[in-house]
Amino acid sequence: MNLLIWLTILALVRHTLSTPGTSWWLLGASSTVEQLMRDDVTTISYKAICQNQMYLVDKQKDLCSTDRNILKTVAEGAALGISECQHQFAGSRWNCPIATNSTSLFGPVLTVNSREKAYVHAISAAGVAYSVTRGCSQGDISDCGCDKRIKYGPTDGTFEWGGCSDDINFGEKFSREFVDAKETKRTAESLMNIHNNEAGRKHLRDNLQRMCKCHGVSGSCSIRICWRKLPDFRKVGDSLSRKFEGAHMVRMNVRKGRLRPRHRGQKYPTKNDLVYIDQSPNYCDQNSKYGIAGTRGRSCNETSNGIDGCSLLCCGRGYRTMVKEEEKDCRCKFVWCCNVKCERCIEHTEEHICN
Ligand SMILES: *[C@@H]1O[C@H](CO)[C@@H](O)[C@H](O)[C@H]1NC(C)=O
Ligand SMILES: *[C@@H]1O[C@H](CO)[C@@H](O)[C@H](O)[C@H]1NC(C)=O
Repeated sequence: MNLLIWLTILALVRHTLSTPGTSWWLLGASSTVEQLMRDDVTTISYKAICQNQMYLVDKQKDLCSTDRNILKTVAEGAALGISECQHQFAGSRWNCPIATNSTSLFGPVLTVNSREKAYVHAISAAGVAYSVTRGCSQGDISDCGCDKRIKYGPTDGTFEWGGCSDDINFGEKFSREFVDAKETKRTAESLMNIHNNEAGRKHLRDNLQRMCKCHGVSGSCSIRICWRKLPDFRKVGDSLSRKFEGAHMVRMNVRKGRLRPRHRGQKYPTKNDLVYIDQSPNYCDQNSKYGIAGTRGRSCNETSNGIDGCSLLCCGRGYRTMVKEEEKDCRCKFVWCCNVKCERCIEHTEEHICN
């Protein structure tokens, strides 16, 4: 996790602790988490700490109180989601920035029910399911461990389940209870959030891996033992990103109390799809109402025709090129024995900056 992000969140949490309506995302770096991890925190005091987290709703406080490592684990999940989002959107006009003076981590831009908001919800719900599942396998959380039920699960006859399978069922269920706890009203926004949270968890489940090991006389592999393993979280981020462009625009069917395609004749979204209600705001220009910084000053790729290319990223305003001079090691040679000798060279690199 980028230190800067942590420091930003930390600064943010200090003056938002008592503000209602803030988000559990802020948990990402609360100093209370460190306080919780101290050994002299008793069972009673960590429960009190959970109850004092003003940015958690009551149900989240109760879940927090079920185990002394929950708060830390959820915080890791939040951090995982945030940093993955920033990786995936690094070259986009909206690059998943953390707001510096807002009570909701991403700032007022997420009051718009946009496809970007859909992504943030999906990736952070997946992040919590992921870190809780990992916490279970590592023995950090007392209510769970390895998946014991999978032994009775189906195999194709070429292997047997064994070892420690990650218990995705527990992680998913926890994420559903904790992350979705705020969505108590049947509003269009809540239905959208729940759909996208579910989609995030589905992409995590669909990307689980099966690891196997052979047993038997001299590599005969007469017995193959397999277990289920969490993927690299990057896979979940990539998989959700592929759904981002094709996200479904929906609206509320008030009579039925559920979401339906925005326009007649469009397909209903599947459980894997992201859904959104509002068009995205313009991320090109600075907009203080939504806390959008605009793309002025962003670094762009001169040779790319994609969204990270100078023409799209700079929104047609043009860009300027700066040449950076750096002194670096070069023409390194191995000298017997045992040294590496290098010369120093001046290297020029170009950086293109949006106007
Ligand atoms: C933060 O504060 C600055 C200056 O007070 C303001 O220009 C900016 O729009 C604010 N950002 C957000 C996200 O509210
Ligand atoms: C810029 O874009 C080109 C073409 O898409 C790509 O090959 C290159 O790696 C990009 N450069 C950077 C620094 O991302």
